[in-house]
Amino acid sequence: MPSVSEARLESVLGTAVDGIVVMDERARILLFNKACETLFGYSAEEVRGRNVKVLMPADYAHAHDGYVHNYLETGEKRIIGIGREVRGMHRDGTEFPIELSVGEAATPEGRQFIGIIRDLRQRKAVERRLAEAQAQLVSMTRISALDEMGAAIAHELNQPLTAIMLYLQAAKRKVGDDHRDTKLIEIVDKGVREAERASQIIQRMRRFVEKRDPERRPVCVSRLVGECLELVTLGIDCRDVEIVNEVGEDLPDLSVDPVQIQQILVNLIRNALDAVRQAPVKRVGITAAAAGEDMLIRITDSGGGVPAEVVPTLFRAFSGAKKGGLGLGLTISRSIAQNHGGDLAVEPNGGEGGAAFVLRLPVVTPPRDGQADAPPGRRGQTA
Ligand SMILES: Nc1ncnc2c1ncn2[C@@H]1O[C@H](COP(=O)(O)OP(=O)(O)OP(=O)(O)O)[C@@H](O)[C@H]1O
Ligand SMILES: [Mg+2]
Repeated sequence: MPSVSEARLESVLGTAVDGIVVMDERARILLFNKACETLFGYSAEEVRGRNVKVLMPADYAHAHDGYVHNYLETGEKRIIGIGREVRGMHRDGTEFPIELSVGEAATPEGRQFIGIIRDLRQRKAVERRLAEAQAQLVSMTRISALDEMGAAIAHELNQPLTAIMLYLQAAKRKVGDDHRDTKLIEIVDKGVREAERASQIIQRMRRFVEKRDPERRPVCVSRLVGECLELVTLGIDCRDVEIVNEVGEDLPDLSVDPVQIQQILVNLIRNALDAVRQAPVKRVGITAAAAGEDMLIRITDSGGGVPAEVVPTLFRAFSGAKKGGLGLGLTISRSIAQNHGGDLAVEPNGGEGGAAFVLRLPVVTPPRDGQADAPPGRRGQTA
């Protein structure tokens, strides 16, 4: 019959979510809990007394003897009390990432080592998914940036080109009137033709970058905002910023192209985080409220705000004052919103100071006869 403390230990080990393995000074396994059995595919019976190396891939196993020996000789710690990410090996030979922390205990039976093992596969999968989503977003943003840049360049170049053509035509008239210098007229004519050609190229470019229609579907706003927050905060250190996400889960679905709207939200949240970086109070808030056939999503911050004189030009391409920013984010964001039949506007953030960006987007409207194939608000979630 086990003593009370033994029984207690047994139960703790049995219910622990993490794998727990205890070994002696010679790296022989003394104890192997249930979670370890599931993780490595061995029963406790099978591994008891065996060297802990059976749980490691060959390269680690090889180095491990050295580590143990070195530690016992010199006391130099490589893992004890530190904890690190290593690889484990299942009975069937598959390797998987684990987080391993090792503690040490002096017992009447000698020195023992206790390893706590956490399976990192799920976390890794989530990290991978996020990295993929981020990469997709970056490439989408680049394409949009090119579109916007093309449109902006076309717009900017059109005016001087028209002026060049007018000047050349005036020059041609003057030359014709005064000198009848056919050679000179010919040269000016060539100039006019080239300017026309440039203008046509620009027209074509404009047609090419004309807005693509968004691929709309019902999208849950709270999920979309949640994903964007995850995307933005993954790459940068914003632990000192209080991010308040108040977007409710019971709002109607948006009727939008989710990847495009993600771009808007990511840019607005990024801008807000940039804006509070130097501010004494670092707060970023997100709310959403249905307003008739639209949804209003507000991203607020406690930064310096947008000066009134800047507001009229804020949404123009390349208007940004930020180091390292292209100054295209807001331009792209507004054109995506308007393309959806919505809009993007800026206003002061009430009493808190800072800016509030208000994104208006259409929501899914239920069919008139009330015969919705799925209830509004949760459509698209179960598919
Ligand atoms: N929340 C905010 N508070 C204060 N100023 C802002 C805020 N959001 C944007 N701005 C100002 O508007 C400018 C334009 O923003 P926009 O997102 O278009 O470009 P950007 O952030 O500079 O670069 P990027 O193209 O990488 O987004 C910013 O440079 C900044 O000066
Ligand atoms: Mg930006």
